[in-house]
Amino acid sequence: MEVPFYKHQLRGGDAAAIASVLESPMLTSGNVGRAVEAELAAYFGVPHAFLTNSWTNGALATLLALDLAPGDEVIVPAMTFIATANVVELLGGRAVFADVDPDTLLMTPQSAAAVRTSKTRALIPVHLYGQMVDVAALRAEFGPKIKIIEDCAHCFEGALGDHRPGTASDAAIFSFYATKNITCGEGGAVITNDDGLAEKLKATRLHGMSAGAADRFKAGAYNHWDMLRLGVKANLPDLLAALLPDQIKAAAAKLEQREVLATRYEDAFGDDPRIRLQRPIANATHARHLFPICVAPEIRDRLIQALNAEGIGCTVNYRSVPMLSYYATTYGHRPDQHPVSELWGQGTLSLPLYPTLASKAQTHVIETVFQALDALCPKAAEGRTRDTTQQLRI
Ligand SMILES: Cc1ncc(COP(=O)(O)O)c(C=O)c1O
Repeated sequence: MEVPFYKHQLRGGDAAAIASVLESPMLTSGNVGRAVEAELAAYFGVPHAFLTNSWTNGALATLLALDLAPGDEVIVPAMTFIATANVVELLGGRAVFADVDPDTLLMTPQSAAAVRTSKTRALIPVHLYGQMVDVAALRAEFGPKIKIIEDCAHCFEGALGDHRPGTASDAAIFSFYATKNITCGEGGAVITNDDGLAEKLKATRLHGMSAGAADRFKAGAYNHWDMLRLGVKANLPDLLAALLPDQIKAAAAKLEQREVLATRYEDAFGDDPRIRLQRPIANATHARHLFPICVAPEIRDRLIQALNAEGIGCTVNYRSVPMLSYYATTYGHRPDQHPVSELWGQGTLSLPLYPTLASKAQTHVIETVFQALDALCPKAAEGRTRDTTQQLRI
């Protein structure tokens, strides 16, 4: 049975939204995007939302608006997608890696404080797999001067207590990339409560210009524009923005479906000593973007092969970023500097998780994982395997 890793939820009916944009003169950022921005601002209860053409470009626009200067340090978790660190390095800053908690796999105030220096300008905590970092606790640890930008690429629907993305940070950034819970193929958004930052973002999102296309040609008349600061080309065209409103409306219902599937995986794998899972936080709403499991590093790749052989797609989210060739060779990082991320990164693989994953297909995934584990680490090896995964707790 073929079980792809991911299936998006867009269908032929969504073409109508694109067709209506094609009937208008404006293909790039215009009224459709503005309406979606208002919808996002209302959804998160913030005054400002900006659509962008990716998380990455939204983050570059945000860091430019915050005047990140060469040499400034930004603390990011070692367990994340490379983009979280790359945006800092692209602007001449330095990505400083904090290890993550062995149970939640999230950056903590302690792990971030351990790598703080006098050059620390900002933090980019990542709500990994959809589970929220305690941003208020980071704020309490670092104070108001250090900027906090939430990486919400995995976490549109999540909450921690009464905190949702954007509540306690300077800005929160989403991804609408092809595999995300909400997608328009490529896209993203930045939300903020900060009026001053919002004003700068308007420019840094579009080359630093004082007016976008819709404003330059208002009411049939040409209006001059100025360049206010350096910016990137990060605006989202209306052609793609048109795909978002229906998904925002359906987000809560889709999350319920994801929750049922994730809970079934947790029930199946939770008691097996050969498998480690991300520990859910008690008072949190998990956005259930990905469902990773972690096994002993020596069998991880063979488990992936066994799943692939049975038609099951899986990915690795992620290997420890400081140990990837660019960061390891540029800065001489060592695995023992981020031991939790290193071990999780060597043992983790993500299983299929999307609202339309059928119960029968999920059963196939679960049974194949157990069959492969029984073949790869029979009971005699179980003690050794358990020790290896427990090293995450150091
Ligand atoms: C944690 C995280 N941050 C950032 C990104 C970058 O998002 P985008 O592809 O929209 O730039 C991703 C994308 O996969 C991600 O998973």
